[in-house]
Amino acid sequence: RKVSAFTIHDVDGSSAQKEAINGIAKEFEVSTENLRTIVKQFNEDMDKGLQRHGATVAMIPSYVQGRPTGKETGKYLALDLGGTNLRVCEVNLLGDSKVTIHQQKFVVSNELKTGEMRHLCDYIADCVDSFLTENGSDKLDNDLQLGFTFSFPVNQTAINRGTLMQWTKGFSCSGAVGKDVVIMLQDSFRRKNLNVHIAAIVNDTVGTLMANGYRDPKSHMGVILGTGTNAAYYETMDKIVKWDQAPTSTKEMAVNMEWGAFDNERRVIHLTTYDNKLDRESINPRLQTYEKLISGMYLGEITRNVLVSLIDRSLLFNGLSSPDLNKQWAFETAYMSTIESDATKDLSDTQHVLESILGLPMTTLVDRQMVKKVCEFVGVRAARVSAAGLAAVLSHSNLVEEGCTIAIDGSVFEFYPNFADNMMAGLKELFGEQIENKVKFALARDGSGLGAAVIAMMAHRAA
Ligand code: GLC
Repeated sequence: RKVSAFTIHDVDGSSAQKEAINGIAKEFEVSTENLRTIVKQFNEDMDKGLQRHGATVAMIPSYVQGRPTGKETGKYLALDLGGTNLRVCEVNLLGDSKVTIHQQKFVVSNELKTGEMRHLCDYIADCVDSFLTENGSDKLDNDLQLGFTFSFPVNQTAINRGTLMQWTKGFSCSGAVGKDVVIMLQDSFRRKNLNVHIAAIVNDTVGTLMANGYRDPKSHMGVILGTGTNAAYYETMDKIVKWDQAPTSTKEMAVNMEWGAFDNERRVIHLTTYDNKLDRESINPRLQTYEKLISGMYLGEITRNVLVSLIDRSLLFNGLSSPDLNKQWAFETAYMSTIESDATKDLSDTQHVLESILGLPMTTLVDRQMVKKVCEFVGVRAARVSAAGLAAVLSHSNLVEEGCTIAIDGSVFEFYPNFADNMMAGLKELFGEQIENKVKFALARDGSGLGAAVIAMMAHRAA
């Protein structure tokens, strides 16, 4: 697919409709030149983050040093909070890169996500308790060691210490920002008499990186493309200029970039009116700018904004919306995946989403073609700007020639049609065709549970 020159998009339909679709395509286009500008800014911001505390791209040292060997053994617990569900896992490391995992998912209600932190911690403790009861692990034994994947920006001060800098992804519990989340959760465990010791607090990107490192020593980056987006990678200690702790025993440390905040200053990414509307109506306006262009929590809402504006111009659905389509967040990113992979001649899967799920009274084939196009524009842009982030780390770490494995987890990467291909296409425009033979994307499904367990083990051994 030719992406640098503007492609004309064709839908059957009136000239006004064709014009509108091509206008929208232009707004969402990210040219190769734009990509280069974004990568350059990204590289500068990475350097800033490594030099000082409080930069937009926070570049947080994770206290995770060294790489797993695959020979690690032992039973560890892992908790994963920050995606759609809360997961509790028991991870049994068997050595030889072998592992068994038992896990259970628990729903985190909106009330808990936006209530008091104390209640959220008590709920998490209850989930761990019920998991342990059901899985028969002996709570009276020595303390169980737990790796806590807490996928939010945490300013770490030790492997199991860190204060929440701010909430992202729709969480907004009171009494948490500026507090040590490990201490808060450990308190809840104590109140409920759980002999569980939090040995490590882990960002999901760091967990994903470690989990993949357990299998593939070429893993250099862990990336999440899911509800939110972020990346971690191995950095050499001498480049972490702001590191003011005791010298480390190894030469490298995983750095949690918190890249979702990239371009909060709005210098290099062109935002459409649809993006601005989403941002303004979100609970964290002017924050997580990059994340809002890419991740699963937001893509559907951007698309919905475009569709509603086409309706208002009487160019879609005969000018009529539905109560559901009018609701904020009602157009889920998962619908986009269905629509984009709809290969039926009359776009009947798309029709199902629009009519049966979203309650639009009647759609024409042209309507459905237009909706499909809009999804494509939003989805392709997301993949291309993601590629810029990957490219920034590859060039920062001098890995364009040498290559590496990029471990990726998250629903957008796993389920969104052509997302990986579109990211690779972006990398090829930036680095040439051969990059495809050097850089591999590896799906690291639910990797952060395993990663957190491995990190808990390493921390426990070191203690
Ligand atoms: C958000 C969080 C970040 C996390 C990412 C993916 O960006 O701030 O910590 O890694 O989502 O879950």
